[in-house]
Amino acid sequence: MIKSVAGTKDILPVDIHKWNYVEDIVKKIFSSFNYKEIRTPIFEETSVFYRSIGEETDIVSKEMYTFLDRSKTSITLKPEMTAAVVRAFIEHSMGNSQSLNKLFYISPMFRQERPQAGRFRQFHQFGAEALGSNSPYLDAEIIILAFLIIKKLGIKNISVKINSLGVPESREKYKILLSDYLKEHYSKLSEESKKRFEKNILRIFDSKSPEDQEILKNAPSLLDYLDENSLQHFAIVKKVLEENEIKYHVDPSLVRGLDYYTHTTFEIVSESIGAQSALCGGGRYDNLIEQLGGKKTPGVGFAAGIERLILAMENEGIPFPNDNQLDAYLVLLDKDKEFLVNKFGYVLRNSGIKVDYDYLNRSIKAQMREANRENAKFVVFIGGDEFSRGVLLLKNMTDGTQSEILIQENLESLIMIMRGSN
Ligand code: HAM
Repeated sequence: MIKSVAGTKDILPVDIHKWNYVEDIVKKIFSSFNYKEIRTPIFEETSVFYRSIGEETDIVSKEMYTFLDRSKTSITLKPEMTAAVVRAFIEHSMGNSQSLNKLFYISPMFRQERPQAGRFRQFHQFGAEALGSNSPYLDAEIIILAFLIIKKLGIKNISVKINSLGVPESREKYKILLSDYLKEHYSKLSEESKKRFEKNILRIFDSKSPEDQEILKNAPSLLDYLDENSLQHFAIVKKVLEENEIKYHVDPSLVRGLDYYTHTTFEIVSESIGAQSALCGGGRYDNLIEQLGGKKTPGVGFAAGIERLILAMENEGIPFPNDNQLDAYLVLLDKDKEFLVNKFGYVLRNSGIKVDYDYLNRSIKAQMREANRENAKFVVFIGGDEFSRGVLLLKNMTDGTQSEILIQENLESLIMIMRGSN
């Protein structure tokens, strides 16, 4: 049997209402914060990601779907959206027409990670990027925005982790101190951390090894080496969160897996979805736009994984409203009136009523079964004695009551046709 590729998933009609529900809430909240939607292509030239996420990160070094197209251009399916948004921002000189661009997106992403619960190779993110201001209030807005979406979805068992990575200059100084400390414990580090020690020392904080974590407990903290400006920036972010009654904890090991961050980083994690617990993550990136060839412009943003949010909602037993119910199912009583069912259906559908009917030449009983399966609010019987009297028999499927309705006014032409056929 042909199957979908490992780590990819079909979203079937039985589940689609969950996705629509989440996306509707997300769009409403983005709109109330005045973020405007942006859509970028599913693939970019590889350098867009290479130059932004960082060569030594897991994403770039092992997870990207990269290939040469027929004209020998190196193409990559987007593993994240920030770099793509920044590329579009620069290309369309968006900073010229507006000094602050608040953008949001909902899009599939691609990373060749080992599939497991909550981790896919094609997954879906929504996120926001605010380009043009270095205000710490905007960092706080991004965190509040992400928090509010998760709260509006009803997810409860969450915690908000925040950190500050400061500016590259203090980070470089800190890396030397960290390296001095870790050298003393080098032989006890995991193989993975030894590699990170050489290539990207801060990423050692992401290590899952308990031995590494034990060593890291006594490591110097970057927060102790931030410059005055960064400390002040971070203090305002924390104050705004407190004012908004958002509980957070400062996690100095929150370095995140992408190289472009400066100042604030954050993640909201769930206790309901197992090891892949990050529902969303983000932070500030004041050097990225310049790094990709644009004018120096500060930015801050976040992205959330929709699969993980839905999983958290399912695991916490949060219901997903389903408005897929049919308004009416038309049951054909007389086979020779099938064309009228079609016409009547059109009139109702044209006025926004959700209607369906049989195409399989089924018996009346089977049509009623179908109406039940579709959870139709009403059944309209087409044909029979009532029909020759100019009325339709309507059954309310919720309370079982039946009524006759006169087909009138705007349906008059239809009645004429219906009558004519008798
Ligand atoms: P990220 O932490 O790599 O950040 O991804 C954000 C979220 O996407 C994660 O918290 C997780 O919910 C989801 N996610 C990531 N990888 C997978 C996967 N393989 N399967 C399922 N879900 C996944 C970024 O992508 C940054 N661009 C966020 C950002 C925006 N920073 C600033 N602006």
